[in-house]
Amino acid sequence: TTNITVAPAQLGFTAVAKNRNDIVTVPEGYTVTVMTRLGDPLATGVSAYANDGTDSGFDQRIGDHGDALAWFGLDASGSRADGSSTRGLLVQNHENITQAYLHAAGASLSAPRALADALKEIECHGLSVSEYKDAGNRAWSYVQGSTFNRRITPNTDMVFHGPAAGTAYLATPYSTNGSHGRGTINNCANGHTGWASVLTCEENWAGYFLRSGDDAQRSARELTALSRYGVTSSTGNYSWSTASTTDNRFTRWDARATVGGTATTDFRNEPNQFGWVVEIDPYDPASAPRKRTALGRFGHEGAWLGKLTAGKKVAVYMGDDSRREYLYKFVSTAAWDAADATAANRLAVGDKYLDAGTLYVAVFNADGTGTWKPLVFGSVPDRPAVGSFPAYTFADQADILVNTRLAADAVGATPMDRPEWTAVNPVTGEVYLTLTNNDASNRPLGGTDAANPRHYGDPKLDGSISYGNPNGHIIRLREDGDDTAAATFKWDIYLFGADSADSSPMNVNISGLTADNDFSSPDGCWFSRPSNAAGKVKPLLWIQTDDGAFTDRTNCMMLAALPGTVSDGGTKTITNVGTSGSATQATIVGTAATAANLRRFLTGPVQCEITGVDSTPDGRTLFVGIQHPGEEGNPAAITSHWPESQTSTTATSRPRSAVVAITKNDGGVVAL
Ligand code: FEO
Ligand code: CA
Ligand code: CA
Ligand code: CA
Repeated sequence: TTNITVAPAQLGFTAVAKNRNDIVTVPEGYTVTVMTRLGDPLATGVSAYANDGTDSGFDQRIGDHGDALAWFGLDASGSRADGSSTRGLLVQNHENITQAYLHAAGASLSAPRALADALKEIECHGLSVSEYKDAGNRAWSYVQGSTFNRRITPNTDMVFHGPAAGTAYLATPYSTNGSHGRGTINNCANGHTGWASVLTCEENWAGYFLRSGDDAQRSARELTALSRYGVTSSTGNYSWSTASTTDNRFTRWDARATVGGTATTDFRNEPNQFGWVVEIDPYDPASAPRKRTALGRFGHEGAWLGKLTAGKKVAVYMGDDSRREYLYKFVSTAAWDAADATAANRLAVGDKYLDAGTLYVAVFNADGTGTWKPLVFGSVPDRPAVGSFPAYTFADQADILVNTRLAADAVGATPMDRPEWTAVNPVTGEVYLTLTNNDASNRPLGGTDAANPRHYGDPKLDGSISYGNPNGHIIRLREDGDDTAAATFKWDIYLFGADSADSSPMNVNISGLTADNDFSSPDGCWFSRPSNAAGKVKPLLWIQTDDGAFTDRTNCMMLAALPGTVSDGGTKTITNVGTSGSATQATIVGTAATAANLRRFLTGPVQCEITGVDSTPDGRTLFVGIQHPGEEGNPAAITSHWPESQTSTTATSRPRSAVVAITKNDGGVVAL
């Protein structure tokens, strides 16, 4: 209602202290409203969630482990309205499950699985679209029964697009000509396109498959690819394929190739259905999602578009989150036409920009420059032999896109400390990439490089020490010529995670973090919407943590930052002390954090991860995902009662992942 002037940018809140309380803590003067939770009914007539293991029908309920989210505005008549801050659609990924809490106490979680239990777990994955409405002055609730509400699950029909669509690599019993895929799984981070669709990314899909004992039916090429992607489990994450049925919604999770396999029983290509970026039109509940094969297949964390400029090509920046994986960029063939931003057929716009183009992988040079290596058939050399796996010769461009990791190996991409989300500064176009952490075997003392410069020991309160790069860092790059299609870039390291209370010589606090902004394992990152930034405030960066090394001191958190630019970087020399006590010198370029430019805004409940963030266009409501509270517990030993604990000191219920809406009590722009 009030028109608040927000320039010049300053972080206008008091830092939240680290804590291990079982609530979402926000600064004084802010309010938390719990929105959609695991199990909340989407369709009319679906019962309220009992939350005792008896619920079913998750294809009409909010899924588990809410992750990345995005807001899409609606006007009063229910039409797309990009500027609306009072009614809209919240699209959220449901990455995974906390299995024990989905079933009655004492239920068998081991093979062979009960059919209904396996179906429930499968349907808790995917995405949800739910309508959110402000009853006035940011009194938020979701709308059960909205015609926009939708669940997308691992059983939803999808259409393959781009160069690998319709090829033999994607031929499955579900789609023998390789044109369709069934469902999406382990949807982690996301992207919003400039034409009001959402990109959802398939990350740790490999582990869901059972695959063993079929080597004799596989070619050396197939075995090489399966090994490189980690499709090696002898059970599959939740043993879904052991349910007693011939229904291939379940049997397909055993990806075994069969002797003389037929189209209906040979699941050798089933894993090739996953590992893609999927585009979804949130405004059309009947639309089939499109799997964009031109963007490559790997452990996709997120997919964030470069700054859109009329006449320039569209770039998409993508991390592959596993240890020693890579950063990728897709560049469209078509140049951006601003008229497409408001086109009615959003998925057709996606066809234009996301089906034809070039995929690149990043090489970070020691001198602060970098190169994008194209992954184009004819120019990618053979991937050399590794161990018992012979050299791999690419057959065609579809092969490169299905087996992208092998192609990236072949061109000498730089192995990173787990590339998570990418974020793009809406003013400068600079790209930020969270590198969440790495372990000692994958980042040994002698195996550091300029872009992944740390191997050290982080002491825990229990006396143990985490080695490698346990607290992670954030790297950023600027394309040469500020051109999304550039083949070269400049980079620096923006922040290094650290525990500010630990003065051990092993744990050098390079960024000078303090109790008000120390963090570990950055994961989610997102710049505030341009409507809150351009011309009004400096771009504000949100950083979310999924901590493996700091939970002895605090629950996971979200910080707000005013990060400056790559060109701000100074040069510091630090002493990086390794496991053996020997000192190695690393030259680190970047800016130190200060109380003015980095501050903790939020902490989450027990055993959660903070992941997923967007705001209304006016910046006055921030939506944040609280994922897997109490994930180390079970019905007999519940370790968090959130979100019930947010408002009750006598809470007893099982924990639920949920979205929270955060508002400032004076109605102002959040964080400023
Ligand atoms: Fe699902 Fe890499 O986080
Ligand atoms: Ca993540
Ligand atoms: Ca993570
Ligand atoms: Ca997680």
